[in-house]
Amino acid sequence: MIFQTETLGEHMAAAVSGLDLGQDIDDETQDALRRVLNDSLVLCIRDQHLAPVAFRDAMARFGTPMLRKQLERTPECAEVNIISSEDRDTLGDGRRLVNGANWHTDDSFMRAPASLTMLYGVVVPSQGGDTQFTNMYAAYDDLPDETRRKIDGLQVVHKYHSRRQITDVSTRPPEEMAAMPAATHPLVRTHPETGRKALYLNPNRMDHVVGLDAAQSDRLFDALIEHATQPKYQYRHKWRKGDVVIWDNRCTMHKANADYPDGERRLMHRVIVAGTEPV
Ligand code: OGA
Ligand code: MN
Repeated sequence: MIFQTETLGEHMAAAVSGLDLGQDIDDETQDALRRVLNDSLVLCIRDQHLAPVAFRDAMARFGTPMLRKQLERTPECAEVNIISSEDRDTLGDGRRLVNGANWHTDDSFMRAPASLTMLYGVVVPSQGGDTQFTNMYAAYDDLPDETRRKIDGLQVVHKYHSRRQITDVSTRPPEEMAAMPAATHPLVRTHPETGRKALYLNPNRMDHVVGLDAAQSDRLFDALIEHATQPKYQYRHKWRKGDVVIWDNRCTMHKANADYPDGERRLMHRVIVAGTEPV
């Protein structure tokens, strides 16, 4: 199958058009999509019309879809979650929740966080609601040698409710919290497919560096976060209805923006696929 590829950001992100993910995709085309994703870190596939089961099945070509209990799911398909302007903290005080309003990588509090996340733009606002991404390979590569030597080999404890939590996260029942113990991950990880090293930060879930106290951990985290989120490493996705955006959590961070006009809706369908333990 032939598709067109267009570069989106200056240093990352590509858009593909001319493909219908609701149809069978041959292995060669699927491999080509995977290569674009590995090279571009963020892959947008334009103009899709996918019911939840078809969306899940298309994303299953990239990995094994996982159930995500913390988010609302579509009635048609349990592996397809809903991210919406109408999200509320239903088990807490009912306040509005904007999922991922600060820089993060998905689910780093898990031992084996999702490798990829896919969002499908079902209803997009007339303006605003962009998703920002930052390139964690480039952020790592640009660090001074001395810093790289210092941080290679450090381990970080990540928690669902971390000491440094900045984003409002949904209230979970106690039995679910018990099933989410802290996870320890390398601060610099090697991507299992590209072999490239990337900074692995999650400002919202990192608690401390193993062997460092809170103040020392904070100084290092703050400096690395400031470095990695500089505009020069970023791509900002402006959504079109029908976009399927796939990002690689192993080498990017991302951030939602709830800045669209009051009363406008934003509705995304979401799939995550299984990853391995970061090394
Ligand atoms: C997510 C997420 C960002 C957005 O689904 O993991 O962070 O712009 N979404 O909705
Ligand atoms: Mn996210």
